[in-house]
Amino acid sequence: VNSFGRAHFSDQLPTSLDRKNCVLIYDQILSRQHGSWIRKFPNRLAVKSGETLKDVKILPRHLTAILNLSADIPRTQLTVVAFGGGSVGDFAGFVASVLKRGVKLIHIPSTWLAAMDSAHGGKTALNVGQAKNQIGSIYFAQDTYLVKKVLLKVPRTQVQDALGEFYKMALISGGAIWKAAVNEASPDGDFLWRHLRLVIRGKMQIVKKDPFETKGIRHLLNLGHTVGHVLETELGLSHGRAVHLGTLFSLNWSCQQGFFKFMLVPALWPSQSELKRSLKAVKNPRQKLRLDKKTSDGDAIQFVFVRKPGRVFVRKMKMKDLLKEWKRQCQ
Ligand SMILES: NC(=O)c1ccc[n+]([C@@H]2O[C@H](COP(=O)([O-])OP(=O)(O)OC[C@H]3O[C@@H](n4cnc5c(N)ncnc54)[C@H](O)[C@@H]3O)[C@@H](O)[C@H]2O)c1
Ligand SMILES: [Zn+2]
Repeated sequence: VNSFGRAHFSDQLPTSLDRKNCVLIYDQILSRQHGSWIRKFPNRLAVKSGETLKDVKILPRHLTAILNLSADIPRTQLTVVAFGGGSVGDFAGFVASVLKRGVKLIHIPSTWLAAMDSAHGGKTALNVGQAKNQIGSIYFAQDTYLVKKVLLKVPRTQVQDALGEFYKMALISGGAIWKAAVNEASPDGDFLWRHLRLVIRGKMQIVKKDPFETKGIRHLLNLGHTVGHVLETELGLSHGRAVHLGTLFSLNWSCQQGFFKFMLVPALWPSQSELKRSLKAVKNPRQKLRLDKKTSDGDAIQFVFVRKPGRVFVRKMKMKDLLKEWKRQCQ
């Protein structure tokens, strides 16, 4: 085990956890399919997933319940186990990082987004009102279990939504994973499962160079997100689809800037006309882009460009140039 934790891949949910010393925090919807595994935990808290779970206002109520559940467990043994999607992971990760000044954390992601992205890299987060992810910590799980039986039961529509993040990571990493992305005609859950190890490795290679996001390297993982976030909030698209469109925007701009001349992309990517329609549908993109604090600082934007698969980089751009490009891609 290193300080970034360890990823385990298995067919079934883990049976070797020291359950009496765990507090299991799980998405209530999972009790239908995985109830018999869940019920083996004497200390467990069912939660309703989503952004309200991350609302800082309900934290005290949950903390009281968690403290009651863990009252008899010695602090050094106490382990928070998060079983759910990204919202459960962000919430339970935050709890583990502050409970008794920090206790062990285990992630068992149950959505593709969590399995590919949010369960790795140590970021935990809570929301304050409408402001997402404003409270948080960087707190790495000791172990993360990727469980085939759980992930292959995720409905197909969610697999489709997850592809955006998959392609983003494939483009960042390049090599075998990009090749697989380009060659696959009908990516499904099995496809994601086969490449999960590479996706996680790609993310962790970047995280390890900049674990606390102080060097700007982690910012590479925001490929597609500057434009993606605006499309997600303005048009109500799923996060994955929005990131997918945002990644296409970034490729178009990179090409326009002359960073590459030609690149083969997977056949199943959103079309240029879908991107055009989406960009056009956003009213006042300037104002919406400014709201994205992560990337914008007044009139400058840290934009993630692509030179080729496996080579992405950040360049500081002027807001007015991004808006000019937005307009260009609307035509
Ligand atoms: N910490 C990070 O690095 C990081 C990175 C990206 C996103 N996030 C956060 O992750 C969250 C989004 O992740 P998410 O989409 O996994 O969220 P989520 O936890 O809200 O799950 C999405 C939906 O899937 C359902 N679900 C969970 N497991 C399922 C299963 N096995 N089968 C069917 N349905 C299932 C949930 O009940 C919910 O309705 C956001 O809050 C975002 O801010 C965090
Ligand atoms: Zn994302």
